[in-house]
Amino acid sequence: MSSDFTTVAKVGDIEEGTGKSFEVGDRIIAIFNDGGTYRAIDDMCPHMGASLATGFLNESEVSCPWHGWRFDVRDGTWCDNRSLKTDVFEVRVVGEEIQVTATPVIDAKDQLDANRESENRAE
Ligand code: FES
Repeated sequence: MSSDFTTVAKVGDIEEGTGKSFEVGDRIIAIFNDGGTYRAIDDMCPHMGASLATGFLNESEVSCPWHGWRFDVRDGTWCDNRSLKTDVFEVRVVGEEIQVTATPVIDAKDQLDANRESENRAE
């Protein structure tokens, strides 16, 4: 469990079914209200850098507003290639405050390295 939580918004600031982006440390994090549960992923789409917070959220998947790449906001999975992920951050509600960590709990780069290792082992 990370301890570097930063308050970024108040409950009610992010409407259900939508997202907003917040600068936290050196990261820009998209926080979504996914059916009443807050989820946090890297705001920058890995394709060409669009803000995923401005994408369309449907059943825990956000579609990038530029070219439609889809990501599962629960675990960062890229829906069109499930072996790849984007960064996921821990988010919590304390009282009326929505708080997020600047350090990912799921790091896309680590995932990629792990995938490469298992592919190499399989060869
Ligand atoms: S910038 Fe997101 S799909 Fe192209």
